[in-house]
Amino acid sequence: MHNQLCETYEIDTPIFAFSHSPGVIAAVSKAGGFGVLGAAGMEPEQLDKALQMLTEECVGKSFGIDLIIPEKYVGREEGGLSFENLQRLIPQGHRDFLNKLLDDYHVPRLAAPDTMASRAGMGISEKRGKQLVDIALAYPVKLIVNALGVPPAYIIELAHQKGVRVGALVGAVKHALHQKEAGVDLIIAQGFEAGGHTGEIATMVLTPQVVDAVAPLPVVAAGGIASGRQMAAVLALGAQGVWTGSVWLMTEEAETHPVVKEKFKHATSSDTLRSRASTGKPARQLRSAWTDAWEDPANPDPLPMPLHGLLTIDAQRSIQNDALQGGEGGRKLINYYVGQSVGMLNQVRPAAEVFQAIKDECDAVLKHLGQL
Ligand SMILES: Cc1cc2nc3c(=O)[nH]c(=O)nc-3n(C[C@H](O)[C@H](O)[C@H](O)COP(=O)(O)O)c2cc1C
Repeated sequence: MHNQLCETYEIDTPIFAFSHSPGVIAAVSKAGGFGVLGAAGMEPEQLDKALQMLTEECVGKSFGIDLIIPEKYVGREEGGLSFENLQRLIPQGHRDFLNKLLDDYHVPRLAAPDTMASRAGMGISEKRGKQLVDIALAYPVKLIVNALGVPPAYIIELAHQKGVRVGALVGAVKHALHQKEAGVDLIIAQGFEAGGHTGEIATMVLTPQVVDAVAPLPVVAAGGIASGRQMAAVLALGAQGVWTGSVWLMTEEAETHPVVKEKFKHATSSDTLRSRASTGKPARQLRSAWTDAWEDPANPDPLPMPLHGLLTIDAQRSIQNDALQGGEGGRKLINYYVGQSVGMLNQVRPAAEVFQAIKDECDAVLKHLGQL
């Protein structure tokens, strides 16, 4: 399984793991894969601390960071609006609806709203992205990835100057071509099944088209991949490796909310939906009373990014806290981003064990197919 991608990214197995949990990144990178830390929601100090830990723990191993600098968001033209100006754009009707939703589910509000967390809801701006990149480039990261659009040219340039490669997630061929034109080094073809922001085309259909469209740029496939059989399948489609997200949410190292972990354990592949309920852009997540409320045509529509995140971040914290305290309302409302592979994630295991299982199964399948 050691291919060109492994050579380029200095890894043993072409498995990329996206996670917000530094512990998962460390485990995967140490096992010979490539851990990519989701930095979009992080405060700069938080990212700095995580990268310090990874640099110490993963000597000689490969890891990177992931940002969200969308092509379109409220305030982009203005170079990013202030926190106060963004708050002013949130209609009172939306605030009233959200308050009523929490009242209906008897969710107590957290006493002191964490304004730092509210500001982190703005972590998608170009300004914040640049700040995070500057921090990352002081560490031995080997890859910077962007989601939801072409990374700004100066970020690509800055990374390349430091010998760091740049990747981007795409959900359609035309987006892949834009990324290639912009000078991105690695294309992540992410199918509809994926957890988080996702397009409308399935991994099985998207991958071979993107592979052909951007050749000779390397492509890794994402969306629905949680086993070695699925990894072998996308290698057959022309991908040079896999990019995985949901599968790591059910590892011991993952900082997934315990109630969410429990929900995932029992969820089937029919229990997710692609909804604007959590960020304002379509993202696959677990269905819950929260998504039901925002999907109900009788209720206000989710706001565009980043207003929706700003509107809901304190409510989300209250819901998470209530669920943790055993509150019935919080338990009904709580949800999280996850892909259709949630139906395959029925136990919590160490990340290194999950990594080894994917690798071993893929190896066995490839050998078996070779004998046919
Ligand atoms: C909880 C969660 C959060 C995610 N957040 C991001 C993100 O911040 N940036 C990003 O590029 N992708 C994000 N994604 C998408 C992943 O990078 C990855 O493409 C996706 O999880 C692959 O599909 P899978 O979930 O079926 O493995 C997220 C996915 C999940 C499950």
